[in-house]
Amino acid sequence: MPKLTFISSSGDRHEIAASNGASVMECAVEHGIEGIVAECGGSMSCGTCHIYLDQEAYERLGIPATAENDLLDFVNAPRRPTSRLSCQIKVDEHLDGAVISVPQSQY
Ligand code: FES
Repeated sequence: MPKLTFISSSGDRHEIAASNGASVMECAVEHGIEGIVAECGGSMSCGTCHIYLDQEAYERLGIPATAENDLLDFVNAPRRPTSRLSCQIKVDEHLDGAVISVPQSQY
């Protein structure tokens, strides 16, 4: 199972073993990661699952699809170069070791 590390805005680190095939959002919610609100349940209409990936993981995944990219322009927290919507990222071995920061404004 890929290991993901979530970092809260206060710097707290929480490592989880994520389930292959689930979304990063689903894994975060399952493990009680604060700040991943996911109001729309993963239908890509709320933007409250916004995360910042570490640069290496972001590059491994490739650029987000057009619809995700468009919604990232309207998320609450400032968009950064490695911003993604966690509901749109499927967990697989490519994500192992990823470090994921949760924006403060989602708390
Ligand atoms: S959970 Fe709503 S956009 Fe990701």
